[in-house]
Amino acid sequence: MDRRSFLRSATAIGAGLALSPHILLAQDNPADDINVALLGAGEQGQVLTDACLKIPGVRFKAVCDIWTEYNLRKVSRRLKAYKHENNTYTDYQEMLASEKDLDAVIIATPDFWHADHAVACLRAGLDVYCEKEMSNTLEGARRIVLAAKETGKLLQVGHQRRSNPRYLHCYNKIIKEADMLGRITTINGQWNRAARPDLGASEKYMIDPATLEKYGFKDMHQFRNWRWYKGLGGGPIVDLGSHQIDIYNWFLDTNPKSVMAGGGTDYYNKQTHQWYDNVMAIYEYPTLLGTVRAFYQTITTNSSQGYYESFMGDQGTLTISESASRGAVYREPTSPLWDKWVKLGLVNAPVEEKKEEKPKAGVVLDVRETLAPPAYELPVTMDKLYHQPHLENFFDAIRGKAKLTCPAEAGYETAVTVLKVNEAVEAGRKLDFDPAEFKV
Ligand SMILES: NC(=O)c1ccc[n+]([C@@H]2O[C@H](COP(=O)([O-])OP(=O)(O)OC[C@H]3O[C@@H](n4cnc5c(N)ncnc54)[C@H](O)[C@@H]3O)[C@@H](O)[C@H]2O)c1
Repeated sequence: MDRRSFLRSATAIGAGLALSPHILLAQDNPADDINVALLGAGEQGQVLTDACLKIPGVRFKAVCDIWTEYNLRKVSRRLKAYKHENNTYTDYQEMLASEKDLDAVIIATPDFWHADHAVACLRAGLDVYCEKEMSNTLEGARRIVLAAKETGKLLQVGHQRRSNPRYLHCYNKIIKEADMLGRITTINGQWNRAARPDLGASEKYMIDPATLEKYGFKDMHQFRNWRWYKGLGGGPIVDLGSHQIDIYNWFLDTNPKSVMAGGGTDYYNKQTHQWYDNVMAIYEYPTLLGTVRAFYQTITTNSSQGYYESFMGDQGTLTISESASRGAVYREPTSPLWDKWVKLGLVNAPVEEKKEEKPKAGVVLDVRETLAPPAYELPVTMDKLYHQPHLENFFDAIRGKAKLTCPAEAGYETAVTVLKVNEAVEAGRKLDFDPAEFKV
């Protein structure tokens, strides 16, 4: 019996819970720590590592990354500075063959590696936190869902808003309990990003061509900018859009029936930016109350208005973002007053309406433009690092104390929803979803 099975059965028997597969009680004893490996120590791997360092009972044991002289070394050293002694690996198979004490792995490699990495880790008996997008292909995402089912191991997909207390409040309280928006008819969301140069690497840290080729990269440019390449990533609609379109599906409790989209590489070099640098998509969602039309835009040449999602109903509008700068509900003038919800603490009392300014001489203002509805701000704040609650949910699920907020099936539905946008841009027409597409 390996350490993992021993720990689970020993603690489970002690707790009278021998039949539950995911019981691993957290105590102050290091023997009860969850032993974790990081697979992919780039930008996001580092963000996740920092969030994990704030969570008690999590112990890093290994780090694997093909950029040995840079990211691998950097993260390994950082972990050691926090007293997480760790072994380093370039190849994930070698890591899985050598590390016998692991309980879980955090995967933050480029999207086209997720399926191979997640499936191998699940089969090695590990619970897996896999970054979004689950895969750059549906075939890859499907393999992950099947491996999670087959092995009975946990698979959390990195759509971290699903564990964010602000988003949970919006879903559970504003939409479900109070029905403050009324019948949702329209969604509008965006992630607008400023123009930026391609990522590079200094001469000192170049990876040799044979290693790059072995791991699927043509050259250093592709290795650093994999998101833009077909076959490796999915471009901004997948990279950025999937976080927010995931919320469309979640808040509406359903999947779309069609999507139409336009986009192109209109600004950057098409050789190095194979995926579209701007995309505008419109989904149709069939809900119990009727059709919801949902617009989403991502552009990479101008950051105006940043990123947010807006849910509009016949009683009110909810505007929310992962960024703390946005999170309020706006009452429609025709909606009954919301004093009850203020008293119950679902929303803060509205910020006083701005007194209307007198229009300048000669300027005629349309009355509708001057009536900004009052903002009822969310009373819930997020006082942790963005990814921390989602990782906590994963570790709590390993300990049998929580249900995953984004299990493989939910991540798969979002992958189906988002990957179709690129197809719709290419097809230049509206594409339908078959409800069966969302199931594995
Ligand atoms: N949830 C979020 O908010 C969020 C934010 C950013 C990125 N991500 C996701 O995280 C993942 C990583 O993105 P990133 O921005 O860190 O990319 P990155 O390019 O900065 O890092 C990727 C790392 O993986 C390593 N790598 C590549 N192939 C490997 C292999 N076969 N084996 C081991 N290591 C390998 C690279 O050397 C690099 O260090 C992506 O899936 C991305 O979509 C999620």
